[in-house]
Parts: sequence; C-alpha cells; structure tokens
Amino acid sequence: MICDNISINSKGHLTFAGHDTVELAEKYGTPLYLMDENKIREHIRIYKNAMAEFFPEGSLPEFASKAFSCKQIYRIVKEEGINVDLVSMGEIYAAKSAGFPMENAFFHGNNKTDSDIKYAMESGVGHFVCDSADELNAVNRIAGELGKKQKLLLRITPGIDPHTHKKISTGSVDSKFGFPIETGAAKNAVKLALSLENLELSGFHCHVGSQIFESDPFIDAAEIMLGFISEVKNETGYMAKLLNLGGGLGVRYVESDPVIDYREKIGEIAAALNKMAEKLNIKLPEILMEPGRSLVADAGMTLYTVGSVKEIEGYKNYVSVDGGMTDNPRFALYESPYTVILASKADKECDFKASVVGRCCESGDIIQENVPLPKPCRGDVIAVLTTGAYNYTMASHYNRIPKPPVVMLKDGQDYVAVKRETVEDLCKLDV
Ligand code: LLP
Repeated sequence: MICDNISINSKGHLTFAGHDTVELAEKYGTPLYLMDENKIREHIRIYKNAMAEFFPEGSLPEFASKAFSCKQIYRIVKEEGINVDLVSMGEIYAAKSAGFPMENAFFHGNNKTDSDIKYAMESGVGHFVCDSADELNAVNRIAGELGKKQKLLLRITPGIDPHTHKKISTGSVDSKFGFPIETGAAKNAVKLALSLENLELSGFHCHVGSQIFESDPFIDAAEIMLGFISEVKNETGYMAKLLNLGGGLGVRYVESDPVIDYREKIGEIAAALNKMAEKLNIKLPEILMEPGRSLVADAGMTLYTVGSVKEIEGYKNYVSVDGGMTDNPRFALYESPYTVILASKADKECDFKASVVGRCCESGDIIQENVPLPKPCRGDVIAVLTTGAYNYTMASHYNRIPKPPVVMLKDGQDYVAVKRETVEDLCKLDV
C-alpha cells in the first residue's frame, strides 16, 4: 500500500487508520471524505522537528490551508503550534472562528481587495505576503486608516522552473505571482516597502510550485533568495529577519511516485542554505516553509458507492460512482494520478479494467482512467486514496451536487468535522 495507514482486514475490506471503510461508508453514507488526524499531526511534527533541527531558532512550518480548510484543521494546527497560510476572507474567517492565534497567520494572494485587507487587519493577521506595488500602497493606506503598523513579507519571484505541471508552477519570471528579481521589480518593491510609514518589512517569500519531488528547485530558489537578501543588505542596509521558502514538496499518489523523506529534504535544503550564507557572509534568517499537500494529502481518502458498471464491447468499461469532479476535480484539471481500490472487495483479484467516472453531465468527469479492479457491482464501495489535499477545498456545486462531509479518524474514534451538505443548504441563498 502507498501509505502505512491503509490495510485490508479479515473481511477483505479496505481499512484506513484502523477503520473498516465499508462500515464508515454505511455509517456516514457516500461520497465521504475521511481524514486521518494522527497522520496530519505526524506530518506536522516531522516538519516542525526537522526545521528546529536544521534551521535557525524561530524557524517554523506554516500550513498552507488552501490544501484543506475547515475549522477543525485550524484547531489541530493551533494545538501543534505552527503557523498558517490564509488566502481569502473565507479562510481568515474559518481560522479566526476556530480560535487560531491570528498573529501566527500569513495572508497571501495576488489580488487582495481593499475589503480583504481591512478584514485581515481587523482580524489581527500577523503578516501580509505582499504581491504587487498596488497592494503595498493599499496595505499602507488601510493600515494608516486603522492606526496600525502592518508586518509583511514581499513575495519574490526567483525565476525557477520546477518541472511540475504548468498549472501548479509559480516561480518563473513570467508568473502572475510576486516581484521578479530579474527585472529589478523585487528591489524596487523593497525600497517602496521600506519607504511606507505604516509598513514593517519582516523579510521575503518565494514559492516555486507544487508536487515537486527533487530538492534542487528548492535549493536553487533558496540560494537565489539568499543572494537577493545579501544584495539588498549591501545596497540598502536592510537585513531580512524571515525567509519563507514556500511549499511544494510532493506526495505519493501512486506506487510509482517516489517515497519522500521530508526530514531528509529539509536537511538537504538547510545544508545548501548554510553553505550559501557562509559564502555571502550573512546570518541565515529564520526560515519558514509552507507545506500544504505534504501535511494532509495522504491523511485523506474518499469513499464512493458504485452505481453502474457499463461494458462497451470492444471499447472500454465504465464504473460510475456517486461523486466525481464535484468532490475531486484534479483529474479533470491536471490528469492527476490516483490509486483507486474496490474497498468492499479489496482482497479480490483485479481482473477488470475500467474508467472510474463521476455523475456529472460532462464527459470529462473522470476520477481515474484504466483502473485495475475486481469486477464491481452496484452497491460496492470504492476508495480513492491520497485525497486529503485540494479535494474538499476545490469541490464545487456543479449540477447542484452537495459537498460530502469530512469525517476525522483519531485514535480509533471517528467524528464529523464538516457536515454533509443538504439540498436546502445549496438553495440557502437563492431568492
Ligand atoms: N505557499 C503558496 C504561496 C502556495 O501558493 C501554495 C500552493 C503552497 C504554499 C502550498 O503548496 P503545496 O505544499 O500544497 O504544494 N490545486 C493544485 C495545487 C495548487 C497549489 C497552489 N499553491 C493541485 O490540486 O495540485
């Protein structure tokens, strides 16, 4: 199995975090998102401990909550004592109402509106991660109106191609995100930030992309950022206190993906950074990292019920389930690979091949193609593994399909973290 929280029990049912998935499907209905709370905490601790081991004091991970956002995750993150990355009023509201200490929040995004900015400041968000000169001026103006001095990082584009899917690559010079170093925009942004009276520049941020397995893109970006920090210091006298290296370490969706040792990766990045800092004769700033996917992806699983099995003689087979692109749009968007298992017959031979598809009126509503399975029948439970990141948060209401609930699994117990939506919920705002 691709993760150690998955197994098969004596009934031939798939288990997740020690629970029989068929029983969970019966208890809560399908489609159903499951999250293994212990696994989330395990990943957070690996990052937190490795960063404490290898980076200067004060270095911490920051959970990129776009990967998975609900009140309960902010409570977990708070208990684990790490920071969060928030990108919208909705995420700020969820974190705040879950009691997350907002001074440990970083507010991201390439187009924060004036109302976003005001809301974030009034909510006490610790840092803004500023993305444009327009935004710097707006943050300065609104901070002035509120009588605040706002701490911030500048999002810098290091000019790195991380060789991942182009839709999740963000560090190249022509990206919509950040101030590019190459064009001089980054240095101008530093000067602007330092000149504005209601701003306090804490340092710099970069993020090269997502689902990256090698250390090289991170090391290249980190070295470029340190070079930038050193140049800025020489030119302006300003020395960054914080350097945020963004998120992006990959996860295993299928057996052929490499197994990643996050502690080892962090150690490799730290070794390169220390060497570079020594060469440049600067003190290494406190380092922040912003993992999203690698904290939650393999803590998640989605369960569906098979509705129909269609064999098109001489062509292909379809297995239709009661969810699809509305709860997991990642195949439709990126052709993302997933491991799919017939959870109710997990011990049977996979002698049938089918496209596992959703229920939307759309041919692209595919969860995965060419999936080897034991031949399923109506009522069987299908599990899609590694769905803890960018599934619930990217779910839609297309075809007016309600979103599934999120059930957390912890120490042999199961509890609802997000309730199942009803059709009444869907029409709540209709006039
Ligand atoms: N920091 C920033 C500024 C980001 O933009 C992101 C992700 C992260 C951190 C977290 O990256 P992670 O560790 O999760 O790779 N919807 C796409 C992923 C988009 C990533 C957006 N930014 C997907 O489903 O693959």
